[in-house]
Amino acid sequence: MTGGALCNIIYAAHFANTQTMWTDCCIAETDIREFLHSQEFADSALDLTFLDPPFNQAKEYASHDDDMPEGEYWSWMRDVCSAVHRQTSQGGAIYFMQREKNSEQVLRCLREAGWTLQNLIIWKKLTSAVPMSRRFGKHYQIIAYATKGTRARVFHRLRIDPPLPANYRQKRENGLYVTDIWDDIRELTSGYFAGDEALRDADGLRFHKQQAPIALLLRIILSSSLPGDTVFDPFAGTGTTLVVARQLQRRGLGGEIDPENAACIRERLREVRPADEISRFRDDYRFTENLDTIWRGEMELGKQRVLNLPLFRPSVP
Ligand SMILES: C[S@@+](CC[C@H](N)C(=O)[O-])C[C@H]1O[C@@H](n2cnc3c(N)ncnc32)[C@H](O)[C@@H]1O
Repeated sequence: MTGGALCNIIYAAHFANTQTMWTDCCIAETDIREFLHSQEFADSALDLTFLDPPFNQAKEYASHDDDMPEGEYWSWMRDVCSAVHRQTSQGGAIYFMQREKNSEQVLRCLREAGWTLQNLIIWKKLTSAVPMSRRFGKHYQIIAYATKGTRARVFHRLRIDPPLPANYRQKRENGLYVTDIWDDIRELTSGYFAGDEALRDADGLRFHKQQAPIALLLRIILSSSLPGDTVFDPFAGTGTTLVVARQLQRRGLGGEIDPENAACIRERLREVRPADEISRFRDDYRFTENLDTIWRGEMELGKQRVLNLPLFRPSVP
């Protein structure tokens, strides 16, 4: 059974009479440790994984201790990387996001789990650097991009058209290829710049402080998958990966331990909010070869049905 089939079974039960074809998306609302050892996961087939775990920096999480002993935390991460590697198609990809100070552990984790490093991407923050008194201020986060085997099964060389640097005179004719430095994607901070994309509670406070930007997942999913592929996010949080995957007609599989976050994901997937729409970024990639094929299947707002996305719980028969 493939990851898609897993979702299809759940969908078949809920949408037996529907004629509408939906890109599959489902959530394992459970501790990822349990899910990665389930038969359902063993039966899944993944093409791309975005790994954005809690960073073990004593942040407050409702259902997770973010202050684990270092060794225990990294052994957990290695187990996650190994389990994902096992279920990934040959040439499939993983993007592991972490703090730059953990680069060494991330690279070791991936290597020991069998992944081949392709790039260590620098995601340079658009906000000001975190000031440091006795070293340089911190201005980026890392995203290690690795593949199963040495050759990527899918890699689209995206082209973007960032503003010309001040010393450039000639306008570019057709943009430039995305490199391993991503300095054009704004993170969702608490203040003004978070804009409408940041999910907020009734008091206007951020619902989830680690919500990743739509633009980040759009770049990853466009680069390393095709329509119909299965994209996995073991620590789905607010479901950014699934929200983007579904709009690009990829299958989405997410894990999330916190029931409030899982409910948020279902709500976010039920109907795409204007702030979550990927169409607003399409023009940024207009110089990319075969963009229509890579992007295929974007759903038009207003034509979507309201979905009551079912939860997937491995312990329920
Ligand atoms: C860094 S956040 C991910 C944010 C996500 N990328 C987004 O865009 O919203 C990590 C998430 O992992 C979840 N988590 C922590 N421990 C977990 C576990 N054992 N199993 C599954 N999810 C877990 C947390 O509840 C949190 O939502």
